[in-house]
Amino acid sequence: MTGFQPTLNQFIRARQEDYPEAVGEFSQVMNAIALAGKLISREINLAGLVAATGYTGRTNVQGEEVAKLDDWSNDLIIDLLGETGCVCVMCSEEVEGAITPSKSASAGRYAVSFDPVDGSSNIDIAAPVGTIFSIQRRVTKSGVGHLEDLLQPGRNQAAAGYILYGSSTMFVYTTGKGVHAFTLDPTMGEFHLTFADLKFPEKSNVYSTNEGNAGTWLEPDVEWVEWLKQNDPETGRPYSARYIGALVADFHRILLKGGIFAYPKNTVQREGKLRLLYECSPLAFMAEQAGGLATDGLKRILDIEPTGLHQRTPYYIGNAREVELIRRFHSSSN
Ligand code: AHG
Ligand code: MN
Ligand code: MN
Repeated sequence: MTGFQPTLNQFIRARQEDYPEAVGEFSQVMNAIALAGKLISREINLAGLVAATGYTGRTNVQGEEVAKLDDWSNDLIIDLLGETGCVCVMCSEEVEGAITPSKSASAGRYAVSFDPVDGSSNIDIAAPVGTIFSIQRRVTKSGVGHLEDLLQPGRNQAAAGYILYGSSTMFVYTTGKGVHAFTLDPTMGEFHLTFADLKFPEKSNVYSTNEGNAGTWLEPDVEWVEWLKQNDPETGRPYSARYIGALVADFHRILLKGGIFAYPKNTVQREGKLRLLYECSPLAFMAEQAGGLATDGLKRILDIEPTGLHQRTPYYIGNAREVELIRRFHSSSN
């Protein structure tokens, strides 16, 4: 052996035999996302120098301020995915309707949803952000893809993953056969395998939530966090609190160190804040593959039938034991 860890590209090619129906299209889609990840990573590393910080002055479909990097990354991913000819339709956080690629749209067998930059308010302070993607097999037969190709429950996903732009850049994904993580070597421009078949660790007494919203939470969530904060060493309490404010980074920490991330619904955000198709569902697929769970408080995230591209859901994700616990707080209040 040559002694280096396989690259993402080698790893995907080696596994392609698991998907004989894919005839190379799947790896083209993954390569396009990986290339976007490298370019976004470079831009973020240079952010202040290439004027990639700051806001465009516009708001997106959800009424949120659009960062310059949101816009730039959105256009980049649409171009790179469209150019493969393997994608029939796309959904982005930054675009209201379904996006159809300009070239060879009819050939594409995949529908891809993505959050180009997750946690974009972190860019201006050089804190971690990420890109999230979800790949579904199209359900329409041919031609340009439609809404129904995108509006599928998370359990149908062919693949999902994220790129974390942190102290190093990591590409983490699943195709339903374990979760695999790769680190970008910027001198080579290659992602190399770092962890194969990642699982949540046993230890899990960390919670990650914006507790500043607690005054607007419903009772089960308030009681749950109060319980986590009580002093009872035998049950591992009090838990520690960690919150980066970028879902990808908070989830990545939980995947490696254990714990639970929560974004409950509240009296202001009645459906919660996070979006099902390109935030909650892809990470839920990864969590389950890593031995964890994801719920909206009562229901499995992967079983929610989406009705809109930008639909939101309350969200609890992490170690199975922790997600079961919050589910008990919710079901006993019903
Ligand atoms: P985005 O930057 O893609 O709009 O996502 C921001 C999300 C998510 O990354 C994070 O977990 C959450 O917003 C943080 O919300 P609060 O600032 O309300 O805690
Ligand atoms: Mn996001
Ligand atoms: Mn975003």
